[in-house]
Amino acid sequence: MISRSKSWLLLTAITLLVVACSEQESSPAMPSATQAGSGTSSSDTPKGLDYAFYKESVEPIFIRYRGGFVGSDTACVACHTVQANAPLGLVPLTEANGEVFWTEAQSQENFQNVAMLVNPSAPETSRLLMAPLAPTAGGESHSGGIFWDSTNHSEYRLISEWIASGDPNAGAEPIVDVDFAFFRSCVQPIFVNPIDNAMPCTECHSGQFAVPPPENSYWTVQQSEQAFEELLSFVDPGRPDYSRFLHKPLHPDAGGDLMHNGGRRWYSKDDPERQALEAWVRGDSTGDQCPSALQFDNPPRS
Ligand code: HEC
Ligand code: HEC
Repeated sequence: MISRSKSWLLLTAITLLVVACSEQESSPAMPSATQAGSGTSSSDTPKGLDYAFYKESVEPIFIRYRGGFVGSDTACVACHTVQANAPLGLVPLTEANGEVFWTEAQSQENFQNVAMLVNPSAPETSRLLMAPLAPTAGGESHSGGIFWDSTNHSEYRLISEWIASGDPNAGAEPIVDVDFAFFRSCVQPIFVNPIDNAMPCTECHSGQFAVPPPENSYWTVQQSEQAFEELLSFVDPGRPDYSRFLHKPLHPDAGGDLMHNGGRRWYSKDDPERQALEAWVRGDSTGDQCPSALQFDNPPRS
């Protein structure tokens, strides 16, 4: 009798554990999806852009196989999901029944994000067109490499046609500047001030953004500049939820990454420290006066 009730207890405990774990794993890692209804007419879409055209002709360009795994041999989506944090904001693909694809809701979300990089009032100035285009043909330098040698490339032409479908009065998003002075005074100290029972970021990211300060003194300006440069690759200016810096250390239950070897620093998006950082990533916080959530005594300032 006794042993039977014991094993029943054990079984219940295991079941509860399994349920708890699988619930954790299934919590969404994505920033909240923008759910436009599928019957949206183009006047309801961002910048009046044609969604059907996007879905049919533009989105496939982002997953097109290009024959390899390096630079411009890679599909755009390999570098441009939230996980990889380069602007474009593509949602990670869904895998089901041996196929990879974007669901309707995911395409809608991609559409909203891609729309932020285009300028229907002057299509050729759109960031979406400039990045993959060769600088010799008027493009901008792009870490992902050159995809189009000229504006005659079929992908370039399709995308510009799509952009031209938008409202001619709709312009580009303003470029957001993330402030260095605020970083140096208010953000950088986070890296050496762990929360309870956590390790400082400097423990694992010292070769990147979490450069350790000199003993008993503040970072030199040069050290701060280096750290800022590094951190910017994990920041998507204007879009806190797409910035890996704010995504990685956030608990998955609050929409953060499913995994971070360094643990969590924020357990909710309402965390005052994270909110202060959001404001900074949106470009709203500048200068060296720190809000109360970002005041630290360590390292000492001279
Ligand atoms: C090998 C990785 C990689 C691939 C492949 C790649 N990109 Fe990028 N892309 C990046 C990185 C990193 C950045 C951010 C730094 C920069 O602007 O160079 C970026 C930036 C961008 C930007 C923003 C530029 C700006 O104005 O800030 C756009 C738009 C873009 N890529 C579009 C594309 C498109 C479209 C494709 C596919 C045709 C593509 N990328 C393929 C890595 C990649
Ligand atoms: C115990 C070691 C450790 C600590 C402490 C740690 N991290 Fe990490 N972090 C990692 C590792 C390992 C990765 C890469 C693998 C992963 O995503 O977990 C990573 C990834 C990241 C990334 C994404 C980097 C990329 O290449 O995409 C960011 C951003 C980040 N951490 C921020 C932080 C911040 C901010 C802190 C401090 C609050 C911190 N981490 C503390 C180990 C750590």
